[in-house]
Amino acid sequence: MKNDENMESKGVSRRQMMIGTGALAASVAMVQFGGLLKSAEAKDGSTEKWPWPYEKLDPAKTAEIAYEEWYRVFCGAAVINSVFSQLREKVGEPYKSFPTDAFVFLEGGMVGWGTVCGSNAGAAIVANTIIGPRIAGGKEGHLITDDMFQWYSEASMPIFAPKKPKVATTLVKTTSESPLCHVSVGKWMKASGYHIGSPERKDRCARVAASVAYHLVELLNDWKDGKYVATGTHSPVKDFGITAQMNCMECHAGGVPTPPMAKK
Ligand code: HEC
Repeated sequence: MKNDENMESKGVSRRQMMIGTGALAASVAMVQFGGLLKSAEAKDGSTEKWPWPYEKLDPAKTAEIAYEEWYRVFCGAAVINSVFSQLREKVGEPYKSFPTDAFVFLEGGMVGWGTVCGSNAGAAIVANTIIGPRIAGGKEGHLITDDMFQWYSEASMPIFAPKKPKVATTLVKTTSESPLCHVSVGKWMKASGYHIGSPERKDRCARVAASVAYHLVELLNDWKDGKYVATGTHSPVKDFGITAQMNCMECHAGGVPTPPMAKK
């Protein structure tokens, strides 16, 4: 990408150009204030300043870390730590202060409630912690989350095969059509016949976490290079008048209801 190289050589990445003028003004103010503050530290020492410094990571290496970490902290914290453990080494703070193991509760779609798959939740936390929330000009964090959920829903999982698998059995692949843990695990259990406590189901979820970590890093690397383009097409609030996943018919087999509409 010639354009990007040109911009990089002038020391201005497209991402920096896309940061709102407010953030730019704030960083100019910070340079005048002292010039020594790290990019993710606001004047009061908090980390509520974005983007956090990011260095491109190797997707395959990240996926291997996520796979191993699953057996220690389960899906959500495994995805978070696969990225942040490397950034702790490459960048240091603020990643060293980020408590990745606090997110063990994401397991089983949050403490076993089968809501959003912990791997997806972990990916969302990583993207929005690095890029920032959309209220602070970090719209790509929001968009990457949307892309990740759609990609996960459409993928034949698990995609990633670790170098040293803990389970030798060939694992069947299933497409969840949903970012939910319950639906994703349920479809896989139905297709494979393995129960929730089986080594195969566990390894399947470890590989799903690794697959998610792999794709997350691909998107973050694109973002870092100024090449990230949002691909998500999910807009149920606009299209249907309700928050939803796109597999309407699986739950509303008897007919998808029409929501009460706002009064004109
Ligand atoms: C994971 C299951 C699930 C999925 C997927 C799902 N729904 Fe629902 N939806 C429900 C449940 C459960 C309710 C609660 C009301 C009920 O039992 O009908 C509901 C309620 C609704 C309602 C409000 C109730 C009404 O009658 O007005 C609307 C509208 C609706 N869904 C539309 C959709 C649309 C459109 C999609 C796809 C874009 C969708 N749903 C996907 C499970 C689901």
